[in-house]
Amino acid sequence: MSPASYDEIAVWYDERIREGPLGLFHLFVVPEVLKLAGVVEGRQICDLACGQGAVARRLAKRGANVVGVDVSSKMLDLARRYERDEPLGVTYTRDDAQTLAAFADEAFDGVVCNMALTDIPDLGKTLRSVARVLLPGGWFVFSIVPPYFQSPGSPRFVQDDEGVVSGIEVRDYFSEGFWRRVEPNGVRGRVGAYHRTLSTCVNSLVDAGLHIENFVEPRVTGSLAEFAPVYESVPAVLISRCRKVSGYGGREGMKVGEP
Ligand SMILES: C[S@@+](CC[C@H](N)C(=O)[O-])C[C@H]1O[C@@H](n2cnc3c(N)ncnc32)[C@H](O)[C@@H]1O
Repeated sequence: MSPASYDEIAVWYDERIREGPLGLFHLFVVPEVLKLAGVVEGRQICDLACGQGAVARRLAKRGANVVGVDVSSKMLDLARRYERDEPLGVTYTRDDAQTLAAFADEAFDGVVCNMALTDIPDLGKTLRSVARVLLPGGWFVFSIVPPYFQSPGSPRFVQDDEGVVSGIEVRDYFSEGFWRRVEPNGVRGRVGAYHRTLSTCVNSLVDAGLHIENFVEPRVTGSLAEFAPVYESVPAVLISRCRKVSGYGGREGMKVGEP
């Protein structure tokens, strides 16, 4: 069976955020993302690959002027329905994160991308688009499942003698590209994901002129820790804040002085 699109799973995804395990994940991750975004009041912010708009709404409640961008019309329908029910001034645009053709250069003070970079085929193009639409000195905050725990063939949860999940087994870390979980029920079993090693992720940021300012792996607490205690001992999420640095030569500069 071919992978589903986000249009096909939009209603299911929204339900899982409102009531299911994805909701527990959001409850933990989104405040951590907002912490790294910092003061957003009065700023122009893009919620990239916004889905049904959960992060966009949180940013708007903090006083930001938010544009949510996603390629899935059905996700955007849900996001617009939330906006109708509780008007916060968020606007939504259908666009591809890899080009952001609907947006002018230097349109935003900040771009947030929550748990979506692995849904987008071309990371380099996406990060260059992010850098293009940011003002000089603008910031980019993203969260992803740590690539060292979510690669093709993993995660496999390791259980102790009592059946309690105590660790994660990782396989095929170096196999970059599209993959799909064997278990069909979760998001990655339905739509799949694009795996890249951590070094590819970091070097792609560098090449796009996005300077890493902060990199965190917050230890899971609260209801997500009760639901999945394994995330008290291994990170469930990796969050980073980067800044657009103009005139930065990226890794090219490193060639100077090579023997
Ligand atoms: C896992 S969901 C995350 C949604 C949202 N950020 C959240 O926190 O709930 C991934 C989202 O990425 C979007 N997406 C996938 N490819 C995209 C692309 N090329 N451009 C824009 N959005 C894309 C999907 O439509 C989906 O809404």
